[in-house]
Amino acid sequence: MKIGVPTETADGEKRVALVPDAAAELIEDGHEVVVAAGAGEGATFSDDDYEAVGCEVLADREAVFEAADIVFQVQALGSVGEDVDPYTDGQVVVGLLGPYDVADEQLETLADRSVSAFSLELIPRISRAQSMDALSSQASLGGYQATLMAAEELPKMFPMEMTAAGTIRPAKVLVIGAGVAGLKAISTAERLGSDTKGHDVRLEVKQEVESLGADFVELDLETEGSGDEEGYAVEMGEEFYAAQREQMENVVPRMDVLITTAAIPGRPAPEIITSGMIEDMDEGSVVVDLAAATGGNCEPTEAGETVVHDGVTVHGPTNLPSKVANTASDQYANNLQNFLANLTDEEGELDFDFEDEIIDSTLLTHDGTIRNPHIDDSGDEDETDDGETDDDATADESAADADDEEGATDAA
Ligand code: NAI
Repeated sequence: MKIGVPTETADGEKRVALVPDAAAELIEDGHEVVVAAGAGEGATFSDDDYEAVGCEVLADREAVFEAADIVFQVQALGSVGEDVDPYTDGQVVVGLLGPYDVADEQLETLADRSVSAFSLELIPRISRAQSMDALSSQASLGGYQATLMAAEELPKMFPMEMTAAGTIRPAKVLVIGAGVAGLKAISTAERLGSDTKGHDVRLEVKQEVESLGADFVELDLETEGSGDEEGYAVEMGEEFYAAQREQMENVVPRMDVLITTAAIPGRPAPEIITSGMIEDMDEGSVVVDLAAATGGNCEPTEAGETVVHDGVTVHGPTNLPSKVANTASDQYANNLQNFLANLTDEEGELDFDFEDEIIDSTLLTHDGTIRNPHIDDSGDEDETDDGETDDDATADESAADADDEEGATDAA
């Protein structure tokens, strides 16, 4: 098959869907690879690098769409508000297609052209799919970058140190949302030596947070039903979030750094941090809101912008993995390679096996039909399990712990 790699169109996107090493392996497997001129530049891969491993470099992205049987993209369609023009009849596309934001008419056009569109955001979180899980590979890099961003900006050191000039107290870091990005942000902060705390509504992650050397901030909330079997959060009612915000008031102001990653697939990010809490933080404190693209976890967040709110810097980055475009592209290309291996038979031909949960979950359009129920379902979930709070004791305790602790533990 001919695999095509067009240039990316999203503003500031430096990643590329296939790196030369991965292309070389696909060529060895009997595929052809065509790459648009300059597609890899942002990730430090030149046209010569691709040609050296046997790829054909075409003049532009249009030429790639015309030539390819399968198109590999990073962000496409709903992720970037891209149009469907370039996709040709019967083409296969694999990428982060922004399934919750693709317009119905776009899906209809793709279906009319019998395009098979695979949206990697919908990969189920099962162990067999881990090697293809692009959201996770990229979120992990986002978490790492978020901590570095905060460390660079904060006018305090992260680690505790005893020096001849006196003791340097460790920076206090709180990470809200301990999923993929959050756990990586925590482990990075721990490696830098901060006094790190993590919080999540899914209490099953408490052990993971603690195993990284951080403390878990447990609030007095009715968290039953807050997570699904895949490890994603479920949307809770407004009463729950109001209770969470109320208790967070006792924790957040004592922090130097706040990294927020709370997310619910296909839904707006829950607002957990109010402007008032940020106003109560010390001047010079830093907030990195990774959920900015879906509305943000913090009231002052503006997607893609940095705002200074009452002396506190609030970053709302929307594409941190692109800052480490070389590593991110390498990881992403591995995800795509593994996805393709699962989609092809022993002869390397496409095999649309709808019994396969990975194929079934990710395929948005195929053979003239729009076929993915998850997109519509995502917005219709009932608001359930409103939380209640009896008192703020637990939050107070966590905050008090934050003050008491002097040292920070390096992650293993
Ligand atoms: P994830 O689903 O693995 O983790 C999200 C976590 O938030 C879950 O553990 C969930 O239980 C928790 N959560 C949900 N509601 C909560 C609440 N009210 N309070 C506390 N915790 C809550 O998602 P992942 O992959 O870690 O991504 C997190 C966010 O970061 C997403 O919005 C994602 O789009 C974004 N992201 C942003 C990047 C950027 O450059 N800005 C890069 C990568 C990811």
